[in-house]
Amino acid sequence: MTQAAFIGIDIGTSSIKAVAVAPDGALLAVGNSPMTVDVKQPGWSEQRPEDWWAGTCSAIKQALAKIDSPEVLGVGLSGQMHSLVPLDDSQNVVRPAILWNDVRSSAEAAYVREMVGNESLRRLAGNPSLEGFTVTKLLWMRNNEPELFGRISQMLLAKDYIRYRLAGELGSEPSDASATLLFDIANSQWSEEMCGLLDINSGLLPPIIESAEIAGGITKSAAAETGLAEGVPVVGGGADNACAAIGAGVVSAGDALFSVGTSGTVVAPTDSPVTDPGMRIHSMRHATSGTWYLMGVVLSAGAALNWWRKSSGGPSFDDLVAEAANTAPGSGGVTFLPYLTGERTPHADANARGVFFGMHGGTERAHMTRAVMEGVSFALRDSLELMTALDVNPDEAVAVGGGASSAVWLQMLSDVANLPLRTVGPSEGAPLGAAMLAAVGAGEFEGVGEAGKAWLTDLRRVEPEAAVRTAYDDAYGRYRDLYPALREMFAAGES
Ligand code: XUL
Repeated sequence: MTQAAFIGIDIGTSSIKAVAVAPDGALLAVGNSPMTVDVKQPGWSEQRPEDWWAGTCSAIKQALAKIDSPEVLGVGLSGQMHSLVPLDDSQNVVRPAILWNDVRSSAEAAYVREMVGNESLRRLAGNPSLEGFTVTKLLWMRNNEPELFGRISQMLLAKDYIRYRLAGELGSEPSDASATLLFDIANSQWSEEMCGLLDINSGLLPPIIESAEIAGGITKSAAAETGLAEGVPVVGGGADNACAAIGAGVVSAGDALFSVGTSGTVVAPTDSPVTDPGMRIHSMRHATSGTWYLMGVVLSAGAALNWWRKSSGGPSFDDLVAEAANTAPGSGGVTFLPYLTGERTPHADANARGVFFGMHGGTERAHMTRAVMEGVSFALRDSLELMTALDVNPDEAVAVGGGASSAVWLQMLSDVANLPLRTVGPSEGAPLGAAMLAAVGAGEFEGVGEAGKAWLTDLRRVEPEAAVRTAYDDAYGRYRDLYPALREMFAAGES
């Protein structure tokens, strides 16, 4: 007997993951290929798209090998957002991909602000001009690698390149296109006006299909390299944050996602394109039609606790967190700013740095650990507060990532955000969301909402505790005051 499966693939920065899911939602197998990041100069971050392809083939083969007589019904893709893949007119990669966390393009980000202006940026693209967004990377190539830039005939995003390798079709879809700054998120089409203002040939941009739409079938050569059968449908897929939300059942207005992985995000779907006048928060098309989402990005979340763990002698996470749990909310007056690698939301500031504040002779490691966990939770609350200021008020949120698997941190996040939090299983996140898009594309479900109801189960639910509210509100107030007091020192590099 054959085993029917949908495959979801996530092109992540640290690994490429493939999950195989049965039509009833049973997680059948997972394949994983670790990836490395090439840092040629400080602030640079590159990967070779050809390595993503090799990693994808390996992850798919690993997953298929764990299933008896697999019959794959569809493939979906998720991927790191913003990362630039330039192709020449023979569809060869012109240079290594410039990744989402590469900050070489500050001058170009300033140029976009100057040429377009913040109000037009908000109207045309819904987002601020930051180094992370793809267009600044493309302009960096124009300014610094004119010969290579002249050879570009198509600009793709990470998972779009993999779709091209799987199905031979060039294209993108709204959720990833939103992260380029060249996409009109309100009307779901490339912005000719943005291209005109920046003198970018809109012919470089690939056709847009829907996230659950079938782009094409597995080609003969991709079949030989992956072990998938020729002709298996491949759908558009989505940005990793959109797929992580879908994979957690966060698909419509009123839902929200709190993710505490290496970085942290708060994602809240909306049923119209909401943009922040101060543009401190991102606005993206969701990977399900007629839906958008607001997103706050905390660059160092789990990474901040990991840094603290290593700096304090390398105890286990469990020991460190258990120690912190024995101290009271407010961390004995210690405040921590988690801006170890700069910050995106609410302070788009590449120069910001981590800070401990308020220690005294009686401060112990446990207070400092708790301050790190509280600092990350406060950073996520900052994003939530920007959303509520725009009248986006989630009733509760699904928590995912390593932080959500700690009962202590989960309760703290709920208390700090004053929001009930749930965890769901399977907890595969972005690749699971990509598999759901494949299942919708293949006609198994009407939409991703239905797929989530069929495939996900609630695991744990926590409610905010009223007794700790004042202590956290006071500590959050101290946290909020600290960044403005230090901003000029950060800018001057005095940190
Ligand atoms: C979102 C962002 C990151 C990447 C990580 O704006 O830059 O979350 O998508 O893959």
